[in-house]
Amino acid sequence: MNASTLPDCTSQHSLDHNVAPERIESLRKQLNFHREQLDRYPLDCIDQGFMAAAQALLDFMHAYEDEAAYAEFEKCSDFTSYYEFFSPRVLRFAWAMEDRTFDEMMSKKLAADQKLGDILGPHSWDAYSRMADVLNLVEFSSSCRYVIAGCGKLPASLFYLHDWTAADCLVGIDNDVKAVESARKIVAHFGLNRIQIDHADGIDFDYSSFDIIYWGPFANPRLKVMERILSTAKRDSIIILRDPFHTGTLANKGVLAELDPRFEICKVSDAHPGRFMLKHYILRLN
Ligand SMILES: C[S@@+](CC[C@H](N)C(=O)[O-])C[C@H]1O[C@@H](n2cnc3c(N)ncnc32)[C@H](O)[C@@H]1O
Repeated sequence: MNASTLPDCTSQHSLDHNVAPERIESLRKQLNFHREQLDRYPLDCIDQGFMAAAQALLDFMHAYEDEAAYAEFEKCSDFTSYYEFFSPRVLRFAWAMEDRTFDEMMSKKLAADQKLGDILGPHSWDAYSRMADVLNLVEFSSSCRYVIAGCGKLPASLFYLHDWTAADCLVGIDNDVKAVESARKIVAHFGLNRIQIDHADGIDFDYSSFDIIYWGPFANPRLKVMERILSTAKRDSIIILRDPFHTGTLANKGVLAELDPRFEICKVSDAHPGRFMLKHYILRLN
């Protein structure tokens, strides 16, 4: 691509003159490589080749260090086309990981001295272990009521809270019937009485009875979920927002920049555990 055919990065936003265009072009080339690799697989394919290509993209997102060039790239007119390409594929990758873990776990039993994390296996380990970061930031009492919007078919984050907190009301909602069926099946398989799975949509769910609400990146449309939390959650409730930063915006839409001022950001995680370049922000609803 020569200079005259480069996507316009300056029409709506001011250019950071410290970032040489070559740095953005080098990033674009690397992303094009990952795009080509992933484009070899049809949209419903989750075979080994696809999974390896998706993992390679995620590895690149973690390793890419030029934050200034990425920030400039985000302003370019073609950024949206990269997000629209990568986002559904990363979601497909996440679902495939849940499917694999579901099958593995359903064939296992939990010994009396074991935690769910002991038998989880590598595919969903990040979805589980990322919650250690949350427990560093938020206190869970035994009486607190917790809900996650978009728990998925393998509610690994709820497993973590079941393993490591005494909270007696851990609710996962999902708007996908199949996800709800699978999540209920695995919760029943292990007899997890403190976890409840409901079929509900995060955009019209009533959050008013919950003390802690997990607002993850996969519950969409994200801003509609925000509106619903705002209109139904009780004041003083704690909202755990998980939002992309740096290259994470290739896979998930960020809402931090559009956060309603009624949310007060109380704490920000230093870490970004997991595969997807996402961070936890602890919000209080005032
Ligand atoms: C990648 S999966 C599971 C997330 C993952 N297990 C985690 O720990 O965050 C995302 C799930 O969110 C669900 N989802 C997406 N939008 C939703 C919404 N508006 N309300 C409820 N569930 C939603 C999808 O059906 C899917 O099962």
